Amino acid sequence: MSVFEQLEPEKRKYAETVWHIIKNRRAMRWVYSYEEKPVPKDFIEQIIDAGCQAPSPENYQPWEFVVVTDLETRKAIGRLGKIFCKYMFGGGQITWKEVSTWRFGYMKKPSAIGISTVLMGTGWLMEYIEKSVIVVICCRSGLVGAKHFTHVVPITAQQLASRMAQGCAFMAAQNMLLMAHALGVGSCYFNFPMSSPAAEAKIAELCNIPYPEFTIIGFVSLAWPLFPRTRGPDRSSPAKKAWYNFLGNSWENFKEE
Ligand SMILES: Cc1cc2nc3c(=O)[nH]c(=O)nc-3n(C[C@H](O)[C@H](O)[C@H](O)COP(=O)(O)O)c2cc1C
Repeated sequence: MSVFEQLEPEKRKYAETVWHIIKNRRAMRWVYSYEEKPVPKDFIEQIIDAGCQAPSPENYQPWEFVVVTDLETRKAIGRLGKIFCKYMFGGGQITWKEVSTWRFGYMKKPSAIGISTVLMGTGWLMEYIEKSVIVVICCRSGLVGAKHFTHVVPITAQQLASRMAQGCAFMAAQNMLLMAHALGVGSCYFNFPMSSPAAEAKIAELCNIPYPEFTIIGFVSLAWPLFPRTRGPDRSSPAKKAWYNFLGNSWENFKEE
């Protein structure tokens, strides 16, 4: 009997819906531009609200979300994404061996790997960035009270603070991706435009983000999908990624009390 079947009908409905949203969310890069088909403000706000519900240490909520619809700013961020893409994939920075193993290895078919490399190398795959509403996710570079946590991990308060703040921002981002999917809005988390501190400083300047007091963590694009994306890269199962009590001890050995 599945875990869902063990629940009361109402709880089962919610649990199955959550699982459905998690399983079916995909990075959507084939999208209408904001000018062709804008995502309405109340949809964007609902998605941001989902981000605001993310957990954070002592509910510190270290994130800020800058919602960019301005075309020039979107173009500038998109250009920075393309530059990095072309440099990495079109400039011979990555060998075919690397591309076909760690980068696109999961695709298996050489034709699919080739097409993806070309789409990346020309920067074409990054077109979605300027087409979309871009949510710039930034957070405070440090957390107030971080010194109290340093007994937990032997790193400096500042390192721990920024690690935690970044973690919170990523949780907020994931909430947004899931909410967007539930609303039928296509989304993609992306980082390519921030390929250097100079690029990050440039984006910060465009969005009036005080840098480096605030760090840009990444971006979420929001746009209506041109068509549904049903298949995405497979994920490893718990049998491969979960370990019992210590890394290397198979999940199969899990013993129920
Ligand atoms: C931290 C992070 C950085 C990413 N950076 C980019 C990026 O710069 N450009 C992009 O198009 N997608 C980016 N992605 C999206 C991934 O490529 C995508 O999530 C992954 O291939 C799995 O596909 P799926 O989201 O459709 O399941 C990023 C995702 C994460 C979590």
